[in-house]
Amino acid sequence: MSKENQLIFEKSREGKKGCSLPEDELSTMEIETLIPEKHLRQKEPELPEVSEVEVVRHFTALSHKNYGVDSGFYPLGSCTMKYNPKVNEDAAQYSGFSETHPHQPQKMVQGNLKLLYELEQKLVEITGMGRFSLQPAAGAQGELAGLMIIKKDLKNRGVSDQKTEIIVPDSAHGTNPASATMVGFEVREVESNERGLVDIGQLKELVGEKTAGIMLTNPNTLGLFEEDILKIAEIIHQAGGLLYYDGANLNPIMGKVRPGDMGFDIIHLNLHKTFSTPHGGGGPGSGPVGVTEELARYLPLPLVEKNEQRYVLDNDRPDSIGKVRSFYGNFGILIRAYSYLLAAGAEGLEQAAEDAVLNANYLKEKLKTEYDLPFDRICKHEFVLSGSRQKEQGVSTADIAKRLLDFHIHPPTMYFPLIVDEAIMVEPTETESKETLDHFVEVMNQISREAQTNPQKAQNAPHNMVVGRLDETEAARSPKLRWHPEQ
Ligand SMILES: Cc1ncc(COP(=O)(O)O)c(C=O)c1O
Repeated sequence: MSKENQLIFEKSREGKKGCSLPEDELSTMEIETLIPEKHLRQKEPELPEVSEVEVVRHFTALSHKNYGVDSGFYPLGSCTMKYNPKVNEDAAQYSGFSETHPHQPQKMVQGNLKLLYELEQKLVEITGMGRFSLQPAAGAQGELAGLMIIKKDLKNRGVSDQKTEIIVPDSAHGTNPASATMVGFEVREVESNERGLVDIGQLKELVGEKTAGIMLTNPNTLGLFEEDILKIAEIIHQAGGLLYYDGANLNPIMGKVRPGDMGFDIIHLNLHKTFSTPHGGGGPGSGPVGVTEELARYLPLPLVEKNEQRYVLDNDRPDSIGKVRSFYGNFGILIRAYSYLLAAGAEGLEQAAEDAVLNANYLKEKLKTEYDLPFDRICKHEFVLSGSRQKEQGVSTADIAKRLLDFHIHPPTMYFPLIVDEAIMVEPTETESKETLDHFVEVMNQISREAQTNPQKAQNAPHNMVVGRLDETEAARSPKLRWHPEQ
């Protein structure tokens, strides 16, 4: 390992200290008498011995190796990696928010409750749903809560034993079938037609007495708007099922159309995508779950209500599915989303949606000469190319992704959705400039040309990253998550 990539343990030298505690009052011996025997360490911790400046330099260097939306272009399809305005961070740091505690009496945190109440109102307005719970901590947890609501509603209607199937399109995000299975539903897959939309004929064949509902995102994961959405809603509702909207793709439709008006009964939103709160590397997220007025009684507890004097937490909801997370969700993320919504306003949201669609279509048109575009139509916020032409020359989609790293561009989503061979799913988002998009086109086209003239270049990429190709199978099967001296 080169010196600049050394682990902090490899920098360790015996006797070095980052900081020292004053040697007064209590000696180590005395401290040990204050701690119960069973909690005392049996051997010294294996900590690196480094000076303070070495610690600072080590972690500063690590932070520079990180990549995020603040470092460069991040066209990760389905993930809406848009810029997170810093004003959101300022709002989240106000001491009135940051120094409160969820166990404080409600009368002392009226500002927090007001924010939660108003955020819910705004989400209701944007989506056309009846009510929201802000509790789920991620999109997938919102899905889980939504499906638990479907289950509970079926139970209350006395049909939970008959209605056991959830229909999911073959283009769906993996969390959809996973969430449905976790709640005990059987997943039935509906195929996409040659236009990339739900095959209505096949849907009709699948729908029956067992249909509990359908999980759908519109626009779908190919970035295409389901033109027959009203027909789909009618088919499912006529069979006594419910429509679940995966709201991760709300970015291109906010201010334009509303899932509630399309006939959806339940939705989750990914605040950490559409409403510009930081995400990546697993969180922190926020996946509020919204429902129609009729289903509101099942929402997770508590909801914030407003009476004449003040805002109150309503925990008295006997039909609720209960809590899905502690307190009222990821409060810090909710502040950021609220701040974004206030800053953008209705017009700003609509503009963001339009720009997201414009940017995606611009890139799609520029890239479709070098790359195959299986569904060559106007898209919404994202589109899916196929790297199959480059694959024939020996350069796979994974190679293209690795080669992009050499240009300091985060790769698009790869191999998803599964229905496109060698899929490259690009979502530029509205916050990117034409110059950035043009640069991406240049780089993508260069990689495609290289595939013809010098395929090894991509096959062996990345060439200038800290690490090259990892053995991903080995990393998944026997991950080494801790450093041990013998290694
Ligand atoms: C379409 C879609 N649905 C659901 C999810 C799950 O959201 P989360 O990662 O917040 O659990 C994602 C995340 O990428 C998504 O793109």
